[in-house]
Amino acid sequence: MANKKTLIDGLNEDLANELGASILYLYQTSVATGWDGEELREFLSAEVTGEMQHAIFLAEKIASLGGKPTTMPKQHKCPKDVKGMMKYDLKLELEAIESYKQRAMQAEEAGEIGLKIKLEELIVDETAHAEQIQRILRGM
Ligand SMILES: [Fe+2]
Ligand SMILES: [Fe+2]
Repeated sequence: MANKKTLIDGLNEDLANELGASILYLYQTSVATGWDGEELREFLSAEVTGEMQHAIFLAEKIASLGGKPTTMPKQHKCPKDVKGMMKYDLKLELEAIESYKQRAMQAEEAGEIGLKIKLEELIVDETAHAEQIQRILRGM
């Protein structure tokens, strides 16, 4: 049975991951080169703000639950080649899906049903991201 403290700690981990993903995607859109880089840029430029929107939601929710939102993004060292970047990003998106599944269960256990539904919407977003990256990777 997840209590509120466990839930807030988990949401803060998610927040650090979203902040880290947004910064990583900004970095990758800036440095990617070649035709593959163009494809990566087209996908990722929307996700820089997309992941930041997720971070904004989480930060506000943590605060409204009485917690303190982290200001520390997760740090990343990603590969330099475009294909390596995409594989790295796919791993992050799949990890995000697993984290949000766990968090949605914890939210339900803590009686936070609105949050549970919102976390499921984040699963929908991250699943779409993962599928889009998989599609690009198949063509590379
Ligand atoms: Fe996200
Ligand atoms: Fe994502």
